[in-house]
Amino acid sequence: MTKKIPVTIPYFTDEESEAVKEALQSGWVAQGPRVARFEKLIAAHEGAGYGVATTSCTTALHLAMAAGGLKAGMDAIVPAFTFVATANAVLMTGAEPVFCDIRRETFNISIESLEEVIREGYEERDGSLFNKKTGNLLWGIVPVHEFGLCCEIDRVNGIASRWHLKVIEDAACALGARIGDRHEGSFGNMSCVSFHPRKSITTGEGGMVLCDDEAAACRMRELRTHGSTVSADARDKGRGFLLPEFNEAGYNYRMTDIQAAVGCVQVRKLDQIIEIKRKNALRYDRLLKARVPELIPPAAPEGYFHTYQSYVCMLDLKALGIGSVAEGGDFRNRLLQRLEDLGIATRQGTHAVHMLGYYRNTYGYRPEDFPNAYACDHLSITLPNYVQMSEEDQDRVLEALRSELDEMKKS
Ligand SMILES: Cc1ncc(COP(=O)(O)O)c(C=O)c1O
Repeated sequence: MTKKIPVTIPYFTDEESEAVKEALQSGWVAQGPRVARFEKLIAAHEGAGYGVATTSCTTALHLAMAAGGLKAGMDAIVPAFTFVATANAVLMTGAEPVFCDIRRETFNISIESLEEVIREGYEERDGSLFNKKTGNLLWGIVPVHEFGLCCEIDRVNGIASRWHLKVIEDAACALGARIGDRHEGSFGNMSCVSFHPRKSITTGEGGMVLCDDEAAACRMRELRTHGSTVSADARDKGRGFLLPEFNEAGYNYRMTDIQAAVGCVQVRKLDQIIEIKRKNALRYDRLLKARVPELIPPAAPEGYFHTYQSYVCMLDLKALGIGSVAEGGDFRNRLLQRLEDLGIATRQGTHAVHMLGYYRNTYGYRPEDFPNAYACDHLSITLPNYVQMSEEDQDRVLEALRSELDEMKKS
């Protein structure tokens, strides 16, 4: 039987197993010293002052938004092409997500669309922006660094500072990504990363908020543990018999020391993982251009260091002579099914959140409201990319793409 090629797989060696064993044998398996060490390692790697570990990037986003004051009666602008968690985290605070469109070439937030959403949807009163329809205060922007490529964060920050808006970066996919020598996590905002197995490094599930503000980090540490004023291991070292004070109604978003033990090993491999995935991606770029011109490789603008957490290309409708995005989506799905039948796993890049049932039904969105998000939802294709992938595996993906496209074009 031919070997299956997954879309991605984590890169583990015996070191992770040893680290887990050590955590288990220590008896301290809930949040403790390994989480604190993992937070320091990730923050140092990304050039951020503080890291606050959580159970996932979704809970990291919620925690950062809650600590930043987002609540009912407020709006946050979110790009329409992202994993649903970005918008769901806004809803978790009681606030409303308001979508804007993206750029097809980078899959990241379109500054022109962001400006248009603000101009058309909001009016100014006393230096703040209020939603013309609902009266909600515009609290901030949640830009996404999609698939390992930073968005135009300086331009987002410029718009935010003009209107006194908060910015929380959804950097779920972007650990290690850079603009010039500035790492994601050092752009001056709170940013949230994910350690889900689809990401560059993993703790099974897990996330972290990165920030430079000590007071915000302390507040998030309290909120992630029910609003407790003292952490469990600090309590253990002091008058552990007394429960601490709880001044706020918080959450249980604590990462475990078992997960952090894995994370501490994984972070040491991060640069190596990114280097190999970049090498694979650049090889895909070259070979797709030469052999599969029906696919448009992902863009990496000058000065942007793309980590290729996911290698996502786009079906070229013109090259295929297909007239509409809807038809293109149907063609893409048939192509991905054929690859699946050959043992090659692929995925659509991510989804257009405004077209998902909850958002469509609640807000009455139509595909054309955010046409680029809709097109990327239908035409994007994630190709396999992982450390253990050999050149032969990659050639098999390219050959399968070539032969299946040829077959499909004949019929
Ligand atoms: C852009 C984006 N935001 C948020 C998330 C949620 O991350 P997690 O699964 O760690 O909650 C993901 C996960 O895929 C994502 O891609």
